Amino acid sequence: MIKEKLISNINSIEHYPDPGAKRLRETLATKNNVSSNNIILTNGAAELIHIIGYQLQKQRVLILEPTFSEYYTTCTTFGCQVEQLLYEELHTNIEIFNRFPNVKAIFICNPSNPSGEILTNEQLELLIQEAEKNDAYIIIDEAFYDFLEDGFSYVHLIHRYPNMIILRSLTKMYGLAGLRIGYGIMSPKLVCQLSLFLPHWNVNSLAILAGEMIEDLDDFVQHTRAYVKKEREFVFSKLSQLGFEHSNSKVNYFLLRDPQYEDQKELLQFCMEKGIVPRHTYNFNTLEGKWLRFAIKKKEENQMLLGALTEWKRHN
Ligand SMILES: Cc1ncc(COP(=O)(O)O)c(C=O)c1O
Repeated sequence: MIKEKLISNINSIEHYPDPGAKRLRETLATKNNVSSNNIILTNGAAELIHIIGYQLQKQRVLILEPTFSEYYTTCTTFGCQVEQLLYEELHTNIEIFNRFPNVKAIFICNPSNPSGEILTNEQLELLIQEAEKNDAYIIIDEAFYDFLEDGFSYVHLIHRYPNMIILRSLTKMYGLAGLRIGYGIMSPKLVCQLSLFLPHWNVNSLAILAGEMIEDLDDFVQHTRAYVKKEREFVFSKLSQLGFEHSNSKVNYFLLRDPQYEDQKELLQFCMEKGIVPRHTYNFNTLEGKWLRFAIKKKEENQMLLGALTEWKRHN
């Protein structure tokens, strides 16, 4: 549906896009129950991460690991001093600002990439409150929230916490990775500050058009969520029977390992020979090849994965 609309509007590429993208910002604001001055539009969530890094330059930041490597890459590019805290340490270590004094921002990926797991409300709210008390930004990357069964988001807290930034991507659920479109939700003051770092016309006219269409795609999102949940539960039940370990993912990808092996290189190789391409984890802090990331796909493809993993287990 999005593709057809883009094709029929291809002539719009002759003109400069609307730099304010008023209609799209209103669409996103309505969808998220905020005002359009809470929305910043970016060339994918990646551009938002980039300008946040610019805003934070040379400051001390904390990243919850293992996670999407772009936070680290961007922050170090902008001269930040990067501290890392493991998700598993969160249970025992809530005194973050005692352990990491002067931290100016905390990056959290929720749902997490690569595990697909989510933090509990208590864990996250505590982090948000701590950050607010210490006048630090709290950045919650919700690039994959669309895939959560209940679509739960922390966006409602932006009114209470002016240092909070929610990242969103339209490239995942709507399959627009090459078109590039994402957005952030935050206080109007932060929108103004971060917008200064954006080039004019940062989002192209076809991406704006595609973004506007999502208001009519609620049924598609609901259907996709339900499908992913059903398939994920089916895949997980088989994986446990086969003797694999997997993350407690709530979205459309998960981590997997064969507990008989420390490094999963051979399983990776085996899958590739079967025409399945998992994501290695050598560049994810602490995972370092001990896990592989797989996607939940269409039923036939999930069957193919389970077939390959069954065969692997027969020989291992
Ligand atoms: C957690 C996370 N955040 C943000 C991004 C960037 O998304 P976008 O395609 O909107 O730039 C990705 C891309 O894979 C991601 O995994």
